[in-house]
Amino acid sequence: MLAAVMDSRSDLNMFGPELSEQEFMAWQLLLEERLGMALPEFRRPFLQMALQRRLRVLPFEQYWQYRDFLNSSTAVSQIEWLELVDQLTIQETHFFRDPDAFAQVEQHLNGLLAMGRQLSLWSLGCSTGEEAYSLAILASEACRQASDGRFAVYANDISSQALAKARLGCFSDSKLANLSQDLFGQYFEYSQQHSLWQVKSDIRERCCFFRGNLQELHQHPLQNMDVIFCQNVLIYFSQAQKKALMPIICDRLAPGGLLILGPGEYVGQMPKEMHRVANARVLAWQKIETTAAQPR
Ligand SMILES: C[S@@+](CC[C@H](N)C(=O)[O-])C[C@H]1O[C@@H](n2cnc3c(N)ncnc32)[C@H](O)[C@@H]1O
Repeated sequence: MLAAVMDSRSDLNMFGPELSEQEFMAWQLLLEERLGMALPEFRRPFLQMALQRRLRVLPFEQYWQYRDFLNSSTAVSQIEWLELVDQLTIQETHFFRDPDAFAQVEQHLNGLLAMGRQLSLWSLGCSTGEEAYSLAILASEACRQASDGRFAVYANDISSQALAKARLGCFSDSKLANLSQDLFGQYFEYSQQHSLWQVKSDIRERCCFFRGNLQELHQHPLQNMDVIFCQNVLIYFSQAQKKALMPIICDRLAPGGLLILGPGEYVGQMPKEMHRVANARVLAWQKIETTAAQPR
């Protein structure tokens, strides 16, 4: 067993120096400050591999030299920062990943449409777009059944590579396996150019993908969201960062707005205006109405 661990460690060190405990702590601090990311000790080999991949193409030999460069905040170092972020973030996602959560959103949207409201939804940490397009399909279906209504989906991520894929909206057969034949036929068309299935343009046009770091959410102007969907993002954040972020997220909701978190996403206290939705299968809260709902 020990031999196996030592073997894997030596594989790891084949391409560069070991990330010392002190250096690891300096990177932990940097990543928590800039990304909100909490990197526990057991992920030290993961960080070391990611840093070594970058050092191989950069003119630095030591981790601290690379760190100093990233901290220099020049235009070039900011571009390099985005490269590193792509190495460190996990972008796994699916269409309608958490069906119970989407069912809760559907119920909420139907209620809003009955009041004549237009719909604004936000996918936080949207990765390659599957979550945002699932929300858009859901909203489009709800509007169609209500024979009226308009909607917009906003979706942010920190990864530029993920966002580029999201904007294109092209997916392979295997990515679309969760969708019913009906939804697939209605919302996707084959793109000869990309040899993939592409979300039809009328839905893509309603989805606004933008680069945005959740750590900087307080600076973001988007407000009055009917739904904020935040799954599988905060799990990488430290408890302190999540606690600080929660009131800022809730502040972006319209009165009556719905916040959906992923299982295990957050276990701390919620702002007092947020009321837990009675559904044991979904982590959802509704912001208490402070004024009577008005058609917008
Ligand atoms: C595992 S994916 C989840 C995608 C989708 N929400 C889902 O549940 O299927 C996590 C996404 O969060 C993004 N992310 C991580 N830290 C972020 C931050 N500080 N600000 C914005 N996005 C972040 C990553 O780039 C990645 O695309």
